[in-house]
Amino acid sequence: MDYEFIQVEPRFAPFVALLRLNRPKELNALNLGLMGEIRDALGILDNDEEVRVIILTGNDRAFAAGADIKQMAGKGAIDMLKIDQFSTWDAIRKTKKPIIAAVSGFALGGGCELCMHCDIIIASETAQFGQPEINIGVMPGAGGTQRLTRAVGKVKAMEMVLTGSFISAQEALQWGLINKVVPVELYLDEALKMAVEIASKSPIAVQLAKESVLKSFDSHLQEGLYFERKNFYMLFATEDQKEGMNAFIEKRKAAFSGK
Ligand code: CAA
Repeated sequence: MDYEFIQVEPRFAPFVALLRLNRPKELNALNLGLMGEIRDALGILDNDEEVRVIILTGNDRAFAAGADIKQMAGKGAIDMLKIDQFSTWDAIRKTKKPIIAAVSGFALGGGCELCMHCDIIIASETAQFGQPEINIGVMPGAGGTQRLTRAVGKVKAMEMVLTGSFISAQEALQWGLINKVVPVELYLDEALKMAVEIASKSPIAVQLAKESVLKSFDSHLQEGLYFERKNFYMLFATEDQKEGMNAFIEKRKAAFSGK
């Protein structure tokens, strides 16, 4: 299949597929088109008997710098409800085969949330993780408040979500957000090594084991995600969302009024 925003190599290695986000100029900002392509590609790979493990990656500078702020900036709460951009993400969550995120550079906002949709996260030592939505007048909307809190605990999640500060790959490792940190030239190799190891197991056992781990992780998650999503869309009724996103696009500091 031809894609505009991603590249897919279904035969990257025996039983291993590679899906690469490919909007390098925009730091792989996750626009609706790109997310739709990820959903479609994962659907195809999930049904491909020659694929047992999927590696999701970006480039050395950015895994993904978040949802596309330029695409969202002018939207109102009802637009956001109608577009319902995060329903695409549910399809990613439902992928049966293991997904390994190979992360370098920025993994911010929706980029960090996309990592957390994956099953294993291998990072380069240049990777930075963060939920900086608060800086543009909104909050995480693709599971960040729920999955991050489960991964790193309440106080660290609060710090990241409320200050918008980034953490290094080493901190992410210490905090339990990611599996491994390696030099930048090795992050894809390391992800491949892990993928090959998993691909050598029974694919049915792997699939059911993944499903079972997620079952433990996901109990009560759906409720939290639904709650979070409504709040995210609601923020598009505020002036601060317009100010925050426009300030980003105009490359100036946002002045929030609390309205
Ligand atoms: N959306 C749209 N465009 C983005 C983007 C985003 N999330 N992140 C970066 N870009 C664009 C920039 O606008 C810039 O484009 P131009 O060259 O046309 O100006 C290009 O990518 C390169 O970015 P910078 O010049 O800003 O690069 P930098 O190295 O100076 O800074 C950065 C890098 C710190 C990641 C900075 O780009 C940044 O802060 N990005 C936004 C991060 C963010 O707020 N993410 C959260 C988005 S909201 C969200 O994700 C909601 C959700 O829960 C799903």
